[in-house]
Amino acid sequence: MVKEKKCLAAGMLLFSCVLGSCKGASTSSPSSTSLDSSSSGSKDDSTGKYGLTLQYKSGFRILWLTDLHFGNPTNTSDYDEEKEYTHLRTMIEQANNPDLIVLTGDTFEKETTEQVDAFITFIDSFNIKWAFTYGNHDSSSLISDSYYINKKIMASKNAAFVDYENDDIYGLTNYYINLQSNNKNVYRLYIIDSNNYKLAGDGGDSIYDVIHQDQLDHLQKIYDNQGDKAPGLAFFHICLKEFVTAYQGYSDGIYQGQGYKKDPFGYGYKNNGVYNVMKNCGIVGAFAGHDHGNDFDINYFDETNHMVLSYGLKESDLNYYQTDMVGYKIITLPDNPSSFSYSDIKETKVNYA
Ligand SMILES: [Fe+2]
Repeated sequence: MVKEKKCLAAGMLLFSCVLGSCKGASTSSPSSTSLDSSSSGSKDDSTGKYGLTLQYKSGFRILWLTDLHFGNPTNTSDYDEEKEYTHLRTMIEQANNPDLIVLTGDTFEKETTEQVDAFITFIDSFNIKWAFTYGNHDSSSLISDSYYINKKIMASKNAAFVDYENDDIYGLTNYYINLQSNNKNVYRLYIIDSNNYKLAGDGGDSIYDVIHQDQLDHLQKIYDNQGDKAPGLAFFHICLKEFVTAYQGYSDGIYQGQGYKKDPFGYGYKNNGVYNVMKNCGIVGAFAGHDHGNDFDINYFDETNHMVLSYGLKESDLNYYQTDMVGYKIITLPDNPSSFSYSDIKETKVNYA
C-alpha cells in the first residue's frame, strides 16, 4: 500500500508548527525541541529539515510504548475506551516523568478521525515530548486522508515529530531527533516508518513490507550529513530478520539478553540490507513492535558490530495479546553510548484493574 503524500503547502505549514508558531501551539511550549538545521554538527542541511533537537541529560529516560491498537473493534462487545485510557494513564504516570515517549506503531487500528483526535489530545496532555511512527495498521482506515494523523500530530504542542507531505520519501515518518548536550549530539534517534504490506506481485516469503531503499538512502544521508558519528537508536515497527539470528544466539547462550518469544517473527518480505545500513549509521539499538507475543532485548553481535535488538512490550489488550505480556519499557541511556546494553532496558508489566 503506497502511503500517498498530497499537499506541500500543508507540509510547509506543519514545518512551522515544529517551531511552535502555528495554530494550536502554545507560547508556553517547551523550548527544548528545535529544528536541527541550526544545531552544531550539521554540515549539510539537505536532510537537516528532518531533524529535531532535544536536550540530553544524564540518565535520559525513554518511555517506550507499542501496539496500543486504539480503535480496534475486534472485541466489540467489551471494547471500553475509557478502560484503555485509564490503563495507559496508569503506565505513563508510573513511568514517572520520562524525558521522551516513543510509540513504535499500531497505535491505532480501524480508528476514526475522532479517535485520533482524542488520543493525540490525551498523549499530549502530559507535557512530555513524544515521538510517533507507524505500524502496519495505523493508516488502514484513513485512506481518504492518509496524512491526517501526521497533520494532527504536528499541530499538537508536545510532539517531537516532523515530516513533509510531498517529499517523495516513502513512508510517513523518516525523521530524527538529536539528543544534545553542550552542543554535542550524544545520541541520535531515528524514527522510521517500516510500512504496511508488500505490494501485489512483489516476491518474498512474508506479507509485510520493508523499510524501502529510498528511506535507507535518506537514513545514510542523515548520518553522513550530520558528520558527527553520533551513535543512533532506531525506532520502527516491523522487526529485522536479524532478530531471528539474535534470538537463536540468545537461546543458545551465545548472546546476552533478557525475555522470550511466543510469536513467529513477522519480519518484512525481503532482506534488503536494513541492518547493514543501520550498522553503517552507528546505530547501537534497534527497537520494534509488531509481534505482540515477542518480548526480548538482546546484545546482538555480528563479526564487527554490536547492536541491541529489542521488542517492545505491547501496551493494551486490544487486538491479540498475551495476558502476561502487557505493559511498557523504559530505556535509560548511558552517558557512554558504547556501553549501551540490553540491561539498560527495563520492562514493567501492568495488568488491567
Ligand atoms: Fe500490532
